[in-house]
Amino acid sequence: MRSKKRSLRFSMIAAITIDGRIAKDSHQLTDWTSVEDKNFLHKKLDASDVVIVGNNTFKTAREPLSKRNCIVFTRAIAGSRQKNENCLYVNPAGVDIIKLLQGKNYRRIAVLGGTQVYSWFLEKNLLDEIYLTVEPIVFGSGLPLFTAGLTRDTQYKLISAKKLNNKGSVLLHYVN
Ligand SMILES: NC(=O)c1ccc[n+]([C@@H]2O[C@H](COP(=O)([O-])OP(=O)(O)OC[C@H]3O[C@@H](n4cnc5c(N)ncnc54)[C@H](OP(=O)(O)O)[C@@H]3O)[C@@H](O)[C@H]2O)c1
Repeated sequence: MRSKKRSLRFSMIAAITIDGRIAKDSHQLTDWTSVEDKNFLHKKLDASDVVIVGNNTFKTAREPLSKRNCIVFTRAIAGSRQKNENCLYVNPAGVDIIKLLQGKNYRRIAVLGGTQVYSWFLEKNLLDEIYLTVEPIVFGSGLPLFTAGLTRDTQYKLISAKKLNNKGSVLLHYVN
């Protein structure tokens, strides 16, 4: 799939706890991240042509996401279905996602999670870069960044590490 993607750039954006969690459960709002991370996220989304999320994440952030071009992964349909003007439901099992993005002239793609969607893109080796904010908090349990059972190692290179605030939120930028 990677060889077909040519001009598309997939940027994964995630915030994790010290113990590597993105949420306590599948329904938790991402309301625990720092203001500085939220500012970064909004700037990055503003610079993207489309946001891709899983249906669980969409349900937790329906209102802010509905203002943006959005692709929502779901198994509830076969193929794709336009939900409203800027929101498309897609089951990637029945759709060539690269062709779909190219057809819509989307080039800068923000992959916004959650765990299941990050893992799908990683497994397909499509993630060109990863922006990872480590927030100085521990949940002790919850959803990991990626699911267990991925079949490949994927190598990344750290190109920047930036402390975002005094409490120590750190933004890491990796490229593939
Ligand atoms: N900290 C962060 O940066 C961050 C970022 C994003 C999300 N989150 C949090 O993560 C949690 C949600 O994560 P999650 O892993 O439970 O769910 P998710 O990846 O957001 O959504 C999972 C759902 O998306 C659909 N889906 C996922 N992969 C699919 C595939 N390959 N093919 C077809 N459909 C697919 C399915 O929807 P159907 O059930 O409709 O079939 C599945 O139930 C929320 O609490 C959210 O707030 C945190």
